[in-house]
Amino acid sequence: MSFQLSSEQEMIRLMARDFARNELEPNAHKWDQTETFPAAAVKKMGALGLLGMMIPPEYDGAGAGAVSYSLALQEIAYSCASTAVTMSVTNLSCDPLWKFGNDQQKERHLKPLAAGLALGAFAITESGAGSDPGGMITRAVEDGNSYLVNGSKIFITNGGYADTIILVARTGQDKSNRGLSGFIVEKGTPGLIIGRKEDKMGLRASNTVELLFEDCRIPKANLLGKEGIGFKIAMVALDSGRIGIASQSLGIARACLDEAIQYAKNRRQFGKSINSFQAIQWMIADSATEIEAAHCLTIQAASLKDQGLPFTKEASMAKLFSSEMANRVAYRTLQTHGGYGYMKEYKIERLYRDVRVTTIYEGTSEVQRIVVAREVM
Ligand code: CAA
Repeated sequence: MSFQLSSEQEMIRLMARDFARNELEPNAHKWDQTETFPAAAVKKMGALGLLGMMIPPEYDGAGAGAVSYSLALQEIAYSCASTAVTMSVTNLSCDPLWKFGNDQQKERHLKPLAAGLALGAFAITESGAGSDPGGMITRAVEDGNSYLVNGSKIFITNGGYADTIILVARTGQDKSNRGLSGFIVEKGTPGLIIGRKEDKMGLRASNTVELLFEDCRIPKANLLGKEGIGFKIAMVALDSGRIGIASQSLGIARACLDEAIQYAKNRRQFGKSINSFQAIQWMIADSATEIEAAHCLTIQAASLKDQGLPFTKEASMAKLFSSEMANRVAYRTLQTHGGYGYMKEYKIERLYRDVRVTTIYEGTSEVQRIVVAREVM
């Protein structure tokens, strides 16, 4: 694996950085406080090619690859972690369409997502099926030339704004993982109801809702691949998704580290800047070192994906380490700020809330350890 970025990767990183610092950073606090979904900024991200980064140009994507995607997402997350998850879930939603969709589905559903003209969502989680999606009960029953879907999905990022939802639901009589199938659900389909908007601890500018399906009729043409492969579709998409959450975590951690350095330089106690104290220096050194380690793991997973090699284990390792690392870095940064870090006027207060979910969504740390243990054993 080369650690040298190509000129194209560096250009994409700088483009994302400019956009994030100019368009997201000045607004992120306000969006968080008012729970505002940054629709205009997300639209601009689409125009910059940030929503379908790993889809080839023949399907209107940026064709930039997973390493560039990780670099760009880190920059977006540095400035606004809420916008980063909106970006990552749309990129994730492109993946099943790209890998399992037929030509017509790619033409109709993938192209607008990859071009950044539409938003995507990924609906597998249910109230009784979180870490164990194989336990889902939302059912799709064949009815003529369509499926009638009944059930509900929770914690759906982008759910209230998504034009295209990748849904996994139970078909047939098989009660195991093999009884699940993947579907494309279009916004506005009768019977698709946008339910409660979640009142979250962090990422308050991202949209997280419940989706209800009440006799929701989905044409058979919207079945992804064939019946029975829904679990596999979800797992394959989550492999890529986990590179995204590792990258989001890295971006938040880098923002925390910069906040710690800045604060420690300016804050004076006992007659000197607190950055002259070894206790503070060691926290900063540990954070900087762990960020570099997480970066290596994440770029390794992304690089394997770009080479078309297996990356399930590496994506889980990257997600596990980066998300836990980012939580430690946020903790140290808040500690460095003392009482001020607990106040909403300091950026670390938002970062500390935003980072918490990274060890939970797209597979908890415990699930990542299951994946890694199975792979290495
Ligand atoms: N790629 C391809 N196939 C895979 C796979 C992968 N990465 N992982 C598993 N499979 C296949 C297996 O080969 C197996 O196939 P066969 O039946 O043909 O043998 C099948 O899937 C079942 O696999 P397992 O026996 O490993 O399944 P399991 O029930 O033991 O579950 C698990 C394993 C890793 C715990 C999995 O359930 C899991 O990842 N859970 C976490 C779910 C999750 O991440 N949810 C997040 C929700 S989405 C979200 O948060 C998005 C958002 O909005 C931010």
